[in-house]
Amino acid sequence: MTSTQRQPTQSQPAQGQPTQSRVQDAAQRSVGTASPRIEAWDKVTGRAPYAVDHPVPGAAYAWVVQSTVARGVVVDVDTSRALAEDGVLGVLWHGNAQRLESVGDPELMVLQSARIAYRGQVVAVVVATSPEAARAGADLVRVREDGMTSDTVLRIDHPALYQPVQVNAGYPARSAIGDVDAGLAAAAVRVDATYRTPAEHHCAMEPHATTAFWERGCLVVFDGTQASTAVSETLAGLFELPPQSVRVINEHVGGGFGSKGGPKPNVVLAAMAARLVGRPVKLALTRQQLFAVAGYRTPTIQRVRLGAATNGRLLAIGHDAVSQTSQLSEFVEQSAVLSRHMYAAPNRLTTHRVVALDVPTPVWMRAPGECPGSFALESAIDELASAGNWDPVRLRIDNEPAVHPEEQIPFSSRHLVQCLQEGAERFGWTDASGRVVRDPRPAVRRDGEWLVGTGVAASTYPSLTWPSTALARATADQRFDVEVNAADIGTGARTVLRQIAADALDVPIAYVEITVGDSAIGPATVAGGSMGTASWGWAVTKACRLLRERIERDHGGRVPTGGVAVRADTTLEIRDRPEFSRHAYGAQFCQARVSTMTGEVRVDRLLGVFAAGRIVNPTTARSQFIGGMTMGLSGALLERSVLDSRTGDFVTGDLAAYHVAVSADVPRIEVAWLDEQDPHLNPMGVKGIGEIGIVGTAAAVANAVHHATGIRVRDLPIGLAQMI
Ligand code: MOS
Repeated sequence: MTSTQRQPTQSQPAQGQPTQSRVQDAAQRSVGTASPRIEAWDKVTGRAPYAVDHPVPGAAYAWVVQSTVARGVVVDVDTSRALAEDGVLGVLWHGNAQRLESVGDPELMVLQSARIAYRGQVVAVVVATSPEAARAGADLVRVREDGMTSDTVLRIDHPALYQPVQVNAGYPARSAIGDVDAGLAAAAVRVDATYRTPAEHHCAMEPHATTAFWERGCLVVFDGTQASTAVSETLAGLFELPPQSVRVINEHVGGGFGSKGGPKPNVVLAAMAARLVGRPVKLALTRQQLFAVAGYRTPTIQRVRLGAATNGRLLAIGHDAVSQTSQLSEFVEQSAVLSRHMYAAPNRLTTHRVVALDVPTPVWMRAPGECPGSFALESAIDELASAGNWDPVRLRIDNEPAVHPEEQIPFSSRHLVQCLQEGAERFGWTDASGRVVRDPRPAVRRDGEWLVGTGVAASTYPSLTWPSTALARATADQRFDVEVNAADIGTGARTVLRQIAADALDVPIAYVEITVGDSAIGPATVAGGSMGTASWGWAVTKACRLLRERIERDHGGRVPTGGVAVRADTTLEIRDRPEFSRHAYGAQFCQARVSTMTGEVRVDRLLGVFAAGRIVNPTTARSQFIGGMTMGLSGALLERSVLDSRTGDFVTGDLAAYHVAVSADVPRIEVAWLDEQDPHLNPMGVKGIGEIGIVGTAAAVANAVHHATGIRVRDLPIGLAQMI
């Protein structure tokens, strides 16, 4: 059995008698104070084990073989030369792979049929005694494929586009209020523009990787996942095991950005391979393999139509989004959903259409929907401001809705206007009295060879919550163990959960040990959708409060020798919450410059001001906002996955060709947040901050580039070609 020891937290209780100090400590609140990451030291010293780092005696290694056609069938797989290679233990392909029970995700039905639905799909797996032997063996597997004509290019006039019933996160595909065409006809100022965003890949530092082994009929895996509960339930379904016979451990995860939000083929393949060879198996996909197998953000084409009266009030908002999915499953990016609540207007229409192409399956990527959608909407608002000669900050403020403009339900809290005002002043857009001091004229500011401009965009992200369970235990020596199956994907999740637990227990954080990242703890939701802290924190708070009550009620305030433990589940509270529109909001400001000599675009300055409920930990929160904005900047200027239309292959399949922002690309990023109190969220009052930072950044950059140059870029990333 592999060691799955839980890491004790670094800090120990202060010297002295905890029982006496508790009274004065009770006034100390942990939530809201800066707290360093619990696992920081382990990470920077290399002691934090990731999915394939766990030492497993007798481990074998797996290497995948991928299809080379975008559509077709596997005619035959010749494994003889591979099997003759030194160290090769076995080769799996659809002719000999065990049958899996369907769980509704065709992407996970690996090696179950001869069909090839996209280039790069796994068609065989070689298992060997070393990674080198497995790789050499993979080169010797002869896969005969019968390729057919493939269709891999998203077009706005693609004949196979259709409107799905729902889009990602369960939103309806279409919403309509009033008559957009009539609103546009009545408008004094109009915008009708089409925006394009490219395919993007997540490029987390840790690749999708799994260590799997079988033990007395039970399956144990270490998986780099954002959702070990979902992975364990899925594996139980696929392998027809009782749920308690599968354990998924994800103590440390090297980033995910959505690509690890659910099980991916690697975890299924590793489990199959381990069963085949009767040994533990480690499978780490390479960077190149990830580009086909681990999901990506779909390219989008979005048409936005806006019409405003002479006073700048919007009369119509139309947002039509088109995206792609694979032939295997329907994933529809919810790009137009944010346009349903950002601004007031009497006439509104949002639509989503999708086309199934012979391409890899897209998936959630940081702020799915809001990220590409905000590029379109917030660019269009800027275009409207230019066309109507309105200040872009003012225009947004003037179209602030009082309630959700389509659902007519109240906002739990909404401070977009305050974010815009605070940001404008901090940025120097307005003076201290709120007067606009920015010169709106484009292409008039020069700094040597550079044209300089400023832009603004709004940000938003839903404040979601999902049921979770947590366990709280008190020991007789005044220690508390709190367990929740959160995934810490680099966000600081375990650190903020310990803070939340400490406050709910009314003790300093040093008395609390927190354990995350193990499906055996009990079900908890994904580290995704910016809902981790809200969802896990709620379960932790409930468990800790119940524990305190029980110690008081049943034990007179003294923890008995054997300790006391309480398990909590938040299903009912979350189900019974009153209806509100719950979102975080923010405003992002950018200064960009463009070289008149080369067309090079540089970002000089980014400022984000956010209203996202209570901020649990200023250190990790700041890091989340800056990380999101950095990724937004990266998307604005650099990121683009290029698909070869002849082969269906992402040719930008490594970090040399797929450019992400590096330190030299990233300017001073300033982050601030409002102290937002919202009683309609969860016991902690948090909204979630993992994704809002990436929302609006690209529009702020594009709007600044327009202000600098007069050139309106509607096609990301912004590159030299558009500056000519
Ligand atoms: Mo995030 S794309 O919901 O992991």
